[in-house]
Amino acid sequence: MRLKDKVCLITGGAAGIGKATAIKFAAEGAKVVLCDVNEEAGKALAAELGNDASFYKVDVTNRQNVQEWVDNVFEKYGRVDVLVNNAGITRDGLFVKYKDGQVVSQLSEEDWDLVIKVNLKGVFNCAQAVTPFMIKQGGGVILNASSIVGLYGNYGQTNYAATKFGVIGMTKTWSRELGKFNIRVNAVCPGFILTEMVQKMPKNILDGLAEKTPLKRMGVPEDVANVYCWLASDEAAYIHGAAISVDGGMVLGS
Ligand code: NAI
Repeated sequence: MRLKDKVCLITGGAAGIGKATAIKFAAEGAKVVLCDVNEEAGKALAAELGNDASFYKVDVTNRQNVQEWVDNVFEKYGRVDVLVNNAGITRDGLFVKYKDGQVVSQLSEEDWDLVIKVNLKGVFNCAQAVTPFMIKQGGGVILNASSIVGLYGNYGQTNYAATKFGVIGMTKTWSRELGKFNIRVNAVCPGFILTEMVQKMPKNILDGLAEKTPLKRMGVPEDVANVYCWLASDEAAYIHGAAISVDGGMVLGS
């Protein structure tokens, strides 16, 4: 019961790593508050979790909705102990695809803007909404989803890599600014974890990724959920401003 009665907000909590994190946190005694754009899956999960869990339909890109969500959570639970900024998307494409002496395609402005909005602005919106509550109550924990791509970059992921590097930048900045308020801020950098987002990739690429990983397997959502749980708990009381890899030892390009 490492999170007994802690009020833990998880964005993008209806699926994948967010869902596994919600299940883990609830098992450790947390009061889990999910937000997601997927209402059906989010509601079903909150009902399954019990333990005073709740779901709110919130798009993290919408500042007003995010603020209303956090205000409502504080009103209902009286505290905001942990925020896991997990919601994220990909819209992959080569920066410039050049073939036979011609530009064939380019990463579109639309895909650039959308990924920046969800993965960067969404994290900014949610962290800024919870921080004043955490300061007033004397502390809290903010955990941000970066990626191995936020450490090494990746082919076809200009937009995604920009956001995941940016998340580490925000993590380190907030750890400097908010440490004095007893708010711990850390980032997690998963490798390739078998969720819907990754399962969209062709099987031969997935097999190749597992082969390239020193532990010889892809990650599962629980691998990441366990690290979020530890970071959210008092066991990680002196971990602050870190970007922790959860990637089976994978180093892209090696
Ligand atoms: P997923 O696609 O399985 O789940 C993401 C959830 O976020 C979905 O429920 C989706 O509805 C929700 N969501 C999307 N846009 C939203 C918005 N605007 N507002 C609220 N909710 C929104 O993704 P997965 O794989 O579980 O990834 C979770 C996080 O971990 C992401 O930030 C991702 O970038 C990061 N990550 C994932 C890796 C992987 O291999 N799966 C590797 C490294 C990082």
